[in-house]
Amino acid sequence: MQKITEELITWYQDNKRDLPWRHTKNPYYIWISEIMLQQTRVEAVKEYYTRFIKQLPTLKDLAEVNEDKLLKLWEGLGYYSRVRNMQKTAKKLIESGKDNLPNTKDELLSLPGIGEYTAGAILSIAFDIPTIAIDGNVYRVIGRVYEIEDSISKSSTYKVYSKILEKLLPKENASDFTQSFMDVGSLICTPKNPKCESCPLNKKCGSYKKNTQENYPVKEKKKEQKIEEHIVYLYTYKDKYAIQKRKETGLLASLYEFPNTLESFSLTDIENDLMDKNISYKSVLEIGEAKHVFSHKIWYMRGYLIELEKPLEGFIWATKKELQNKYSIPSAFSYFYEYILK
Ligand code: ADE
Repeated sequence: MQKITEELITWYQDNKRDLPWRHTKNPYYIWISEIMLQQTRVEAVKEYYTRFIKQLPTLKDLAEVNEDKLLKLWEGLGYYSRVRNMQKTAKKLIESGKDNLPNTKDELLSLPGIGEYTAGAILSIAFDIPTIAIDGNVYRVIGRVYEIEDSISKSSTYKVYSKILEKLLPKENASDFTQSFMDVGSLICTPKNPKCESCPLNKKCGSYKKNTQENYPVKEKKKEQKIEEHIVYLYTYKDKYAIQKRKETGLLASLYEFPNTLESFSLTDIENDLMDKNISYKSVLEIGEAKHVFSHKIWYMRGYLIELEKPLEGFIWATKKELQNKYSIPSAFSYFYEYILK
C-alpha cells in the first residue's frame, strides 16, 4: 500500500466522525446519504437522512411513495430533480425484480441520477469494492498534496486526478479510503485556513511546504449570476393562503409557491394593479424583502400581504397546517412562509 493511503486510512480509523449513515452498509441508505450530501452540509443532512429512511425504509417504499410526500421529505434541500431521479431509479430497479442497488459500475451508471462520483461512492462505501470517487474534497486534498496545476473547471482534468487516485486506491478498506478524504477535507484540509499541523499528509504535501495551499485546487472564477427581482403576493382570505404549483420543468419544477411575478412594484403600484384588475381587498401590507441565491441566478423578492374580500380563482387555498404538512414550498420562499407561520 502507498504511504499516503496508509496515513489516510489510519487517520480515518482514529478520527472519523460518527455520522448516521456510517452505521449501515445498506446500499440504498448509502445512496440516499450521498445524494443529500452532494448539495448540503453534513450537519443539515443528518436530520433529513434520518427522517427519509424512517419514512421510506426500503427501495420499494421509495418507488411507491406519492410525489408530493416525496418532495415534502426533500423540502429545503434544493435540487429537487435529484430526488425525482432517485424515484425513477427505484422504480426501474423494483420493476426489474431487484430490491436494492446493484454492485457493478456499469449497472449503476445506467441508472437515472447516478454518475461517476455516486457510483464510486456506493461501490466503495457500501460494498467495499475498490473504486475511486472524486468529489470536491478529493480535488482539494489531492490538488494540494500534488500541486496539480490543471484547472478543475476543465473536464479533461478529471483524468489527471483519477490517475493519481487509482494508484492510491487500496485493495481493501475501500470504504475507509473514500471517506477519509471527506473527513480530512472537511476537518483539516478546509478551503480557507487549513489546519495543516494536524494533517496526516503534511510531510508529503507539496503546497504545505511552500505555503501555497489556498492556490489549489486550481479553478476558473465563477460566472456572474443573473439577478432577478420578484414581487411575492401573499393573498389571504379567512385563514387561508393562495399557492400554486410551478411548471413541470425548469427551476423548482412541480413545487408549490406563493404567486409571484418578475417585477419591482411599490405599494402604490400594487394597489393600482389590484384596482385595475377589479380585485376587492381589505388591506395591502408590505412585509419585507428576501434574497435567495441559486447556482446560476439570484432572486431579490419583495413581499406583500394582501387580505382579500373574496378568494381569487385559479389558486390552491391552503391553511397554515396544510402549508406545513402537505405542500412543498422551496426554501427560496422561506422568508414569506415563515412570515405566515409566525
Ligand atoms: N460527503 C459526501 N459523502 C460523505 C460521507 N459519506 N460522509 C461525510 N461527508 C460526505
